Amino acid sequence: MHKIYITYPFPEGWLSSLEGKVEMEVQLKNQFLSSSEMGERLKDKDGAIVLLANKIDKEVLDKANNLKVISNYAVGYDNIDIKEAKKKGIIVTNTPDILTNATAELTLGLIFTLIRRIIESGEFLRQGKFTGWEPDLLLGYELKDRLIGILGAGRIGFAVAEKLYALGAKIVYCNSSRKEKLEKGTGAKKKDHKWILKNADIISIHLPLNEETYHFIGQKELSMMKNTAFLINTGRGPIIDEAALADALRIGKLGGAALDVFEYEPGVNPHLLRLRNVVVTPHIASATYRARKGMAKIACENLLAALGGKEPQYRIV
Ligand code: DGY
Repeated sequence: MHKIYITYPFPEGWLSSLEGKVEMEVQLKNQFLSSSEMGERLKDKDGAIVLLANKIDKEVLDKANNLKVISNYAVGYDNIDIKEAKKKGIIVTNTPDILTNATAELTLGLIFTLIRRIIESGEFLRQGKFTGWEPDLLLGYELKDRLIGILGAGRIGFAVAEKLYALGAKIVYCNSSRKEKLEKGTGAKKKDHKWILKNADIISIHLPLNEETYHFIGQKELSMMKNTAFLINTGRGPIIDEAALADALRIGKLGGAALDVFEYEPGVNPHLLRLRNVVVTPHIASATYRARKGMAKIACENLLAALGGKEPQYRIV
């Protein structure tokens, strides 16, 4: 029987398709392993299901001599040294599609929360500051007719654009390739990222994290944005230079930000947390029962297919 390492004690039943088919070793909750320790755990394993918080680097892979497949429980795979895995002939898989809608819905939720100042309004009320209806109390912005810039029009960026279009927003996007279906369906226009930074009212990040997108939004890019613009990130934290963002927000160079992901997760720049025009959530974009259970099912299917010598549905390398 194949030996499997699973880096999280998933809820009962989520990995039921593995039962009786593989021998499982499960990591305890909140147990942080160094690369060397992770390598030790994987040494005699044929496969692993890992989370985005597990760094599977060269040191891990060098020790994991027997490993045939890494099934990543996430769509993003910046936690894995893909080049090294490929070199060693290890199959790497991910879990896209099932989480697209959940992530897109949270993105919209963050946008509304930010531009209609929902959290700020609730705090205002709780602090006993509401003394009656006023014409100019806690004014915000509408989505209708606003120009939204989508950075990265892959599955999630695409879904976000479609939903925003349905609510009356105008869409521009930047992507390595043209998305004709998106353009036909939403009237979206392809622009370069500089144009989007200068002109969009709301910018939503849906890029993968890699060498090219690390700090894609830094001080220079932030200074190009309108000082009323809003920045949303449900992609990966290090795509934004978080310190530069906190500075820009502090000095009023930006309208606000809504962030589900952070540069040094689980840490968050404390300056961001002090700002009223910053909405934060703890990397929950895909956190719906449907998406997370579905991701587990797909992670198991990918793993079993690879171990059984079949082509997994979602293979990265
Ligand atoms: C992913 O899958 O990459 C998300 O960040 C977590 O669902």
